[in-house]
Amino acid sequence: MTALAGVAPSILSADFARLGAQVQEVLDAGATVIHVDVMDGHFVPPITMGPLVVDALRGFSDRAVIDVHLMIERPERHVADFVKAGADVITVHLEATPHVHYTVKTVKEAGCRAGVALNPGTPVDVLGPVAGDIDVALVMTVNPGWGGQSFIDGSHERIRRAAQIVRNVPIEVDGGIDARTAAPCARAGASIFVAGSAVFGAPDPAAAVREIAAAIG
Ligand code: DX5
Ligand code: ZN
Repeated sequence: MTALAGVAPSILSADFARLGAQVQEVLDAGATVIHVDVMDGHFVPPITMGPLVVDALRGFSDRAVIDVHLMIERPERHVADFVKAGADVITVHLEATPHVHYTVKTVKEAGCRAGVALNPGTPVDVLGPVAGDIDVALVMTVNPGWGGQSFIDGSHERIRRAAQIVRNVPIEVDGGIDARTAAPCARAGASIFVAGSAVFGAPDPAAAVREIAAAIG
């Protein structure tokens, strides 16, 4: 199975008219994970994309790890559709469901890796009860909903604490990540670095992927 590690370009900031070409550029630059931000207009204000886009990406590359970040209310209702579309990792927000264990179990029984995400205002200690069940812990470093926001200072302490709680579970960071902000997150214990605007907003997305990868070592 391809590694869930390193730079995970978020297609939220990609040019959707050239999505395949943009994804190919970042894969050629060494990224193995493609991050897909799903927003429902409820959990977060914007509406973005759904299983159709995951299905298109799966058809485009059978090697990329498709990392689906569900910023949607009651994600358990949609897990089956994302699995069917070809997701490899499905991450749900702990704030978005009263049934996080059930949702994680559903994802895993369907053969996908399961993640739990936390908003910046949620104490990371809530990861404790799910730590034994998840494949990734996503620590948001901005408030979810939009690309291009600034990294929230003080997130390092949350990453460090999360790493202590989940132990061997990889930690993903998402929001305001670029070559400058990624390095201290790596030192704090993160190993997956979602980057949207820093990659697809850059004049050369491939170079941006390589720069962030170099910064995290
Ligand atoms: C924000 C999304 C992010 C977003 C990050 O709600 O979860 O994945 O694409 O964008 P940047 O890297 O521009 O902060
Ligand atoms: Zn995301």
